[in-house]
Amino acid sequence: MSDDYVHKVQAAWKKNALIDNETYLKWYADSVKNPDKFWGKHGKRIDWFKPYTKVRNASFEGKVSIKWYEDGTTNVSYNCIDRHLKKRGNQIAIIWEGDNPYDEKKVTYNELHEHVCRFANVLKKHGVKKGDRVTIYMPMILEAAYAMFACTRIGAIHSVVFGGFSPDALAGRIVDCKSNFVITADEGLRAGKHIALKENTDRAIEIAAKDGVKVDKVIVTRRTGGKIDWMEGRDFWLHEEAASVKPACPPEKMKAEDPLFILYTSGSTGKPKGVLHTTGGYLVYVSMTHQYVFDYHDGDIYWCTADVGWVTGHSYILYGPLANGATTLMFEGVPNYPTPSRMWEVVDKHKVNIFYTAPTAIRALRGVGDEWVQKTSRKTLRILGSVGEPINPEAWEWYFNVVGEKKCPVIDTWWQTENGGILIAPLPGATDLKPGSATRPLFGIVPEIVDNDGNTIEGEGSGNLCIKEPWPGMTRTVFGDHERYIQTYFSSYKGRYFSGDGCRRDAGGYYWITGRVDDVINVSGHRMGTAEVESALVAHDKVAEAAVVGYPHDIKGQGIYCYVTLAEGVSGSDALRKELIAHVRKEIGAIAAPDKIQFAPGLPKTRSAKIMRRILRKIAEDEFGSLGDTSTLADPSVVDDLIANRQNKR
Ligand code: WT7
Repeated sequence: MSDDYVHKVQAAWKKNALIDNETYLKWYADSVKNPDKFWGKHGKRIDWFKPYTKVRNASFEGKVSIKWYEDGTTNVSYNCIDRHLKKRGNQIAIIWEGDNPYDEKKVTYNELHEHVCRFANVLKKHGVKKGDRVTIYMPMILEAAYAMFACTRIGAIHSVVFGGFSPDALAGRIVDCKSNFVITADEGLRAGKHIALKENTDRAIEIAAKDGVKVDKVIVTRRTGGKIDWMEGRDFWLHEEAASVKPACPPEKMKAEDPLFILYTSGSTGKPKGVLHTTGGYLVYVSMTHQYVFDYHDGDIYWCTADVGWVTGHSYILYGPLANGATTLMFEGVPNYPTPSRMWEVVDKHKVNIFYTAPTAIRALRGVGDEWVQKTSRKTLRILGSVGEPINPEAWEWYFNVVGEKKCPVIDTWWQTENGGILIAPLPGATDLKPGSATRPLFGIVPEIVDNDGNTIEGEGSGNLCIKEPWPGMTRTVFGDHERYIQTYFSSYKGRYFSGDGCRRDAGGYYWITGRVDDVINVSGHRMGTAEVESALVAHDKVAEAAVVGYPHDIKGQGIYCYVTLAEGVSGSDALRKELIAHVRKEIGAIAAPDKIQFAPGLPKTRSAKIMRRILRKIAEDEFGSLGDTSTLADPSVVDDLIANRQNKR
């Protein structure tokens, strides 16, 4: 891989940057040497009703207890809204861009304050109390943000469930955290299609009731005006309720370790876990990382394309940016509607300076051709972020060269739902970039690479990525199941948090995430990341996307099976198979030469755009009779095609 191809920090990026390399090195050293002092100081970046005197009280051993700023009290909604009112009451807090390009709204901090206060009063009126779990099942509309902040204002714990999830999935999440309140909308809107959120909610509530959890109240936002069923006494329109309550609501004084939100996330086993984040440390961590990782300056327009249903939406659309008094953009639509120029048109329309998206979107847009990008200006862009999966160097270079025209650093941010915020990423004014590497750890983050026996690997090498020291933004427990928390994250390697990711550290101390450890394959005794092979395949100009899995191979132990989605207008043939094998052999080496290549018009992706490798592995193993649950796929029908064209037929 092209480790040596370094993009040096440009003078223009350095010029105004908050952190240069010297500062990074000094702060990092301080944060590791004396975390109490470092975080004691930076904890003051948010406002506290009662200041903390203790900073860190945390251990990865035994029962695993993580506490930060435990004797301080604060409030997230206060910090993200009220404290800005004096200076920025009339500044835009949220720019909302609708699914339809002609639909937009802008909300000032003053307006946000009133919306959130009214929503909080509506929740109170309907009996929501501090510590109650409120399920939010919403499209990407402003009311989703109001709902989240309203919960934090009164100390209710929100559990946002992505609007693309099915009624069953929603019900499971309602039941798991025993949530008696749901906030939803009549319908969602994506690429012009209506999504039946209220109908799904009604069904989920029925299912949950059978599992013993009764939802008492449903607050409904009107988005489309579509026809919905209504249950008198249970369902209430937000606009009617909000008009009937007071426009002010004092923020609840929350202890730093009071729960803030639950978010469900999948692991390698069992049902999704409800990971719990708490108040003080989380807010300090997300505001700090948002500021320095994106080099956020006052007045910048910042756009993260995630959905609020995922942690990225929580931490980097809402909580981090608004804690910093930012202007954040919330986008209801999708990247290719009405055309593949949409993202860049939105950038131009709202003069976006900082843009944060996922590699899957970058690859998809790269696949349709540069002309969709080039017809837009993008001259306001200063920083390009990436998150969610390894970004292969080719996608990285395209993002850098074509989207950013070599003027914007590409900030590849590695982190997980459980982490609360970004753990490994370059800083725009400090870090030389290597395409495909998330580069260096952020302040207070001590990565450790361990082999399968738990031995620490120093210097250059690869293994399992652990984090050695607690940080303020991390998950404190699995809601209602602390044992599972210990088991999942702290039992593989004693005394460390295990990420589940494989990772390589290069000679320069840079980190290269190779994907989940379950995706690592071993071919003829050679260990390699499926991401490496994928990256090589995607580097071929006829390939749009690729997913690689291992399958049992008599001689090699595991063979390499590649699912390849070809670029527009290219069709598959045996000659092309040979060409791709030769190409990968050339890019990585003979050990990485694919054994099987299946041309796949679509890959099985969850609605959060994660490829479900479990399914690909099964099909590669010719075990498609036991695919397990495919209901969470964005398009379950791709599976039939994959089975029909499998390359390992017995
Ligand atoms: C997993 C976490 C919190 C971000 C959204 C996803 C993978 C995430 C990167 C990156 C390589 C990445 C890891 C991680 N991942 N970012 N920059 N480079 N891999 O959160 O759904 O909790 O997924 O996403 O495998 O473990 P998530």
